[in-house]
Amino acid sequence: TADVAPPMKGDVLVHAEGPNQGQVVKASELSDKLVRAYPKGRDSKGNEVIRDKDPTNILAVYKFAPGTLKEPTKLDATIDAQIVAYGDRCMHAGCNVGDDPKGVGQMFCPCHSGQYDATQGCRVTGGPPPAPLPQLPIKQEGDQLVVTGFFLSQPYGFTKEAWEEYIK
Ligand code: FES
Repeated sequence: TADVAPPMKGDVLVHAEGPNQGQVVKASELSDKLVRAYPKGRDSKGNEVIRDKDPTNILAVYKFAPGTLKEPTKLDATIDAQIVAYGDRCMHAGCNVGDDPKGVGQMFCPCHSGQYDATQGCRVTGGPPPAPLPQLPIKQEGDQLVVTGFFLSQPYGFTKEAWEEYIK
């Protein structure tokens, strides 16, 4: 059903937690601290639905200062090479990955100490994760963040075949 469907082109990102849960994530309020978001789209009847019933749909969103985001981040799938979204399920065993206070854009997985660098395509910088967190392409419309395609690499919980079906 629509609430478990993965992020789709045209979905708008909404806060996944905190006082603004369910509210649109505004580009103007983002910072280099992680904001967790879910995609909000429409079901087959055209009703709005937050796709929050599949844990793989949770996203990590950041806005970095100009010049901070670097390859292998796909900069053309970011907003102004400053705002970027990644899947927030650890590629090791699917825990949610959070901020690591040791540096801007550094991420830490509490389950087995996996580490990622969100300023460099969420490449793995430590621990057991076998692959980067997948980047989700987005664009800005007004003050909203809008999904423009599927995850650019295979997310946790997807077989390669299933992922390839979505990027066709
Ligand atoms: Fe993240 Fe194991 S689930 S390091």
